[in-house]
Amino acid sequence: MTFSLYQFDQQARYRAYSDWSPNYIAELNALADQSPWRNHFHIEPKTGLLNDPNGFSYFNGQWHLFYQYYPFGPVHGLKSWHHLVSSDLIHWEELGLGLQADNSVDSHGAYSGTAIADGDVLRLFYTGNVRDENWTRIPLQNTVTIDKSNQLSSDKKTIIPPLDLATDHFRDPMYFTQNDTSWLVIGGQRKSDLKATLYLYQATSEDLTQWAFHSELAIPQADTAYMFECPNINFVDDKVLVTFCPQGISPEQLHYQNIYPNAYLIADRFTADGHLEGAGQLVNLDFGFDAYATQLINSPDGRVLGVSWLGLPEIDYPTDDYGYQGALSLVKEYRIQNNQLTQYPVVETLQLRGKEQTFDTQMNLGHNHFEYAFTVDANQTAEIALFANNDKSKAAVLSIDTKNGTLILDRSHMGTTFATAFGTTRQVALTPAEPVTVNIFADSSVLEIFINHGAYVLSSRIFTEDTDQTNIIASGTLHNQIWPLTM
Ligand code: FRU
Repeated sequence: MTFSLYQFDQQARYRAYSDWSPNYIAELNALADQSPWRNHFHIEPKTGLLNDPNGFSYFNGQWHLFYQYYPFGPVHGLKSWHHLVSSDLIHWEELGLGLQADNSVDSHGAYSGTAIADGDVLRLFYTGNVRDENWTRIPLQNTVTIDKSNQLSSDKKTIIPPLDLATDHFRDPMYFTQNDTSWLVIGGQRKSDLKATLYLYQATSEDLTQWAFHSELAIPQADTAYMFECPNINFVDDKVLVTFCPQGISPEQLHYQNIYPNAYLIADRFTADGHLEGAGQLVNLDFGFDAYATQLINSPDGRVLGVSWLGLPEIDYPTDDYGYQGALSLVKEYRIQNNQLTQYPVVETLQLRGKEQTFDTQMNLGHNHFEYAFTVDANQTAEIALFANNDKSKAAVLSIDTKNGTLILDRSHMGTTFATAFGTTRQVALTPAEPVTVNIFADSSVLEIFINHGAYVLSSRIFTEDTDQTNIIASGTLHNQIWPLTM
């Protein structure tokens, strides 16, 4: 990273927000304003670092969404929850810092968690990251509420102290209910063998402020991992969808190339005593370069909705040079039909579409915020250059072979490259000898690619180098349709 305004040491990362000078903040904002890679319809921070989506919920007639946020540079520092609200899941109004690390129960970070509308309040569950004088981490699971004027109550309360069974990797409480029982599932690492597991708690009070340890929910399909970050348990079309980020999992259990994967399994039932029955195999939730910490909710309108962080831990991004990092995905709807998970941008996304245009082999919109749909017949090969310059020497290249059933995304020729130590291509195995449909949602530095209406998803950040990288050049594709997407 060549971010030049400031060298962050540990002390600086944990400095109180009020101690940053107005001068520094002005310089940081001026730097961020120069970025050539600002997106048009994806959530990203003005300055500083965005990571996990948090507290996704519907409360008081609006959708609420928060993200993990460090405002003062493109580094992981003292984390807050940044708060946004929306009436349509597309246009988001920024309310600013919703939950800050300013208390003895969260002194070193308000880490990830979830929210649930509870009468007149939105109740947040989150991990308070606390460190003692020896820098030993003490993970506390906390609750606090937000009222109908979006004001945070001053009453932060620890509901779950550190667990004896777990190391200090114990975080990211996700709230869910089944048959009137309220549960929290928390990601963790067992003390006994330093392997990853999930911990289940049950509410013991109506007001959701008293919780009791229930059991460990082991995931044998991922038992080589050392930590499960950001778990979710959701009920989707009569199945149970379990998603999490199994850090350190062996390639035998899950093939992946990103520094850490985001994975899922489908089970038949979550039993009243906290077991998964009929759990299937572990699969990548997203096959792209940059998706992590996806948060899913069983929304009150009956849909299962989710948002991913379009970024990964411990990776430097080109926008770091402009003092910011990270974006959130579009809001996606999750379905399970015939035991097959699909994820697709919510129907509300259609409102972004401008006038439809069609083309045969080449299109230049002069910008990169569009939806592009096409099909490839069975037993064909297709090559699609996206974000291509005029002579096609720079582009992100999607190669599809429907005879053998392979789809490869290559971002090595974009001009601006990053994270190349983790490979420059990502691949999906399709069913051989079948046609595919592809829908691509592109933004200035985002590609969200949905295959066969979301049976496979590849979400990635990509960064152009030249201003003429606004061409699409396709061969082997049919029914090329394109819509500019604007807010
Ligand atoms: C995942 C994560 C979470 C943690 C948060 C801190 O990206 O490490 O486990 O709560 O980020 O920002």
